[in-house]
Amino acid sequence: MKTFANIFLGFFILKAAAAAPPTIAINYDTDTYEVDLYSNYDYDENGSIDQGEIEIGTVLPIVNRPILSPEPDHGSVIEEGEESTSTEEESTPKLIDGSSPQGPLTPGVQTPEASGGFSTCILCACIRNTVYCDDHNLDSVPPLPRDTTHVYLRFNKIRKINKNDFSYLNNLQKIDLTSNIISEIDEDAFRSLLHLNELSLLDNRIRQLPELPNSLNFLDVSKNRLGRKGIKQEAFKDLIDLHILYLNDNSLDHIPLPLPDNLQALHLQDNNIQEMHEDTFCKMKDLSYARRTLEDIRLDGNPINLSRTPQAYLCLPRIPVGRLV
Ligand SMILES: *[C@@H]1O[C@H](CO)[C@@H](O)[C@H](O)[C@H]1NC(C)=O
Ligand SMILES: *[C@@H]1O[C@H](CO)[C@@H](O)[C@H](O)[C@H]1NC(C)=O
Repeated sequence: MKTFANIFLGFFILKAAAAAPPTIAINYDTDTYEVDLYSNYDYDENGSIDQGEIEIGTVLPIVNRPILSPEPDHGSVIEEGEESTSTEEESTPKLIDGSSPQGPLTPGVQTPEASGGFSTCILCACIRNTVYCDDHNLDSVPPLPRDTTHVYLRFNKIRKINKNDFSYLNNLQKIDLTSNIISEIDEDAFRSLLHLNELSLLDNRIRQLPELPNSLNFLDVSKNRLGRKGIKQEAFKDLIDLHILYLNDNSLDHIPLPLPDNLQALHLQDNNIQEMHEDTFCKMKDLSYARRTLEDIRLDGNPINLSRTPQAYLCLPRIPVGRLV
């Protein structure tokens, strides 16, 4: 990701250095960049950033070639971009704040309280209201600009999530803490985030799930250590918008109940679940009840024999994946 941002910033440096009539071209470039970011850039998926890099590689040269190299050299444009960042990295913060024709990319940096967030934008990359801070060796959540809506903190060494790490970020919609070493989360660390839609805690060491905001529609806690007691009674009951719930690889010994009605995917594979109730998914006393949306249930990799509870799947569009004999 850093490379990606550096190419982008290095590109502005090159632009500023080249004494060509720049204004229209810069506007165009900025627009192109945003289109790439929001429509094609695949950052939200399972972690691949290849597509984003390809997009930048294919977009920038077309605009840049006439300015950078009078004799078009088809293989070298990306290399030129990378070269420039390595020599001029020191000046990138000014460019983040000042170079966008559409105003600052991170409005939060202008308020004094958020100066901590500004320092994070020097270390990481802030684009609009998204903070990209993957793979920076962080051992705690850094201060973030107040207007942050999306924050990526993957592949760091964060150990603990504190009560106030995110609580001042009223617009936060997505937090991605994939692949840290989090073993502890304060009970109310996420409680006040009323717009939080996506929370990814995949691949950590979490033993106890904290309270979750009702606005969540995506929750990934797979590959953690929730075990027998890590999920409190009725933890998901009020999450009426929860569509995706990934709890695989946690040594769970039970299916957490009740499951929210609007669930679409429930991944429980590779746990230690041995039995299920006939009312786990359906309602034996209400045969008209149907869970139309729950099409993706994974129970494979558990010591459970799904054939023992044939009544349990009657309200589902599809039977769960798992051992049937
Ligand atoms: C990422 O997801 C795509 C489909 O969206 C899949 O084809 C690919 O194998 C996945 N990659 C990894 C590393 O899981
Ligand atoms: C699984 O359950 C079915 C139905 O009760 C039973 O016939 C079958 O023997 C069970 N399989 C195992 C391995 O226990």
